[in-house]
Amino acid sequence: MKSFVAWVLLLFVSSLASAQEITYRKHIRPLWEDKCERCHGSSAPYLGTFEENKKEYEKDDKGPRMDSYADLIFFIGWPDTGAIMRRLDDGKNKKDGVPGNMYKRLGKNEEERQANLKLFKQWVGEDAWIMKKPNEITKEELMRIKTPY
Ligand code: HEC
Repeated sequence: MKSFVAWVLLLFVSSLASAQEITYRKHIRPLWEDKCERCHGSSAPYLGTFEENKKEYEKDDKGPRMDSYADLIFFIGWPDTGAIMRRLDDGKNKKDGVPGNMYKRLGKNEEERQANLKLFKQWVGEDAWIMKKPNEITKEELMRIKTPY
């Protein structure tokens, strides 16, 4: 009986854990501060400026700035649709099977990278984790994007 109660309790707790909503403020922001901020923070240029002088910024380990909620979802929904998905994917969702070049930034080892990729995927929405570019994506696919604040 005791073990049955423990089992039910375990089921309950694990369903709570899996139902937990992944939000920008609680999960993604701290992860971003840890793994992305040093190159995409407030000292980095906005995408337009970055593109005017890409080579110089890259030399300095600076990518386009994405240091707020709005600036980050710019690289998910619109106008730089799917950039986060294409860069962070481990290759499993890409036609060429090659991981995006920011995948390695997600962690020090494969276990950490996979755990952090999972958080990003859950935040964007598993069925919205699409590699398509702005001229390829459909409105229906765009509407699947979740990214709760
Ligand atoms: C060591 C520096 C560095 C770190 C850390 C880093 N990035 Fe980058 N990132 C860059 C540079 C430089 C570029 C531009 C060159 C390129 O396109 O690869 C870039 C480009 C990108 C782009 C493409 C933007 C576009 O032009 O469409 C995305 C998306 C991105 N990074 C996301 C991330 C995320 C998310 C993290 C954290 C998990 C991260 N990066 C960590 C340096 C970094």
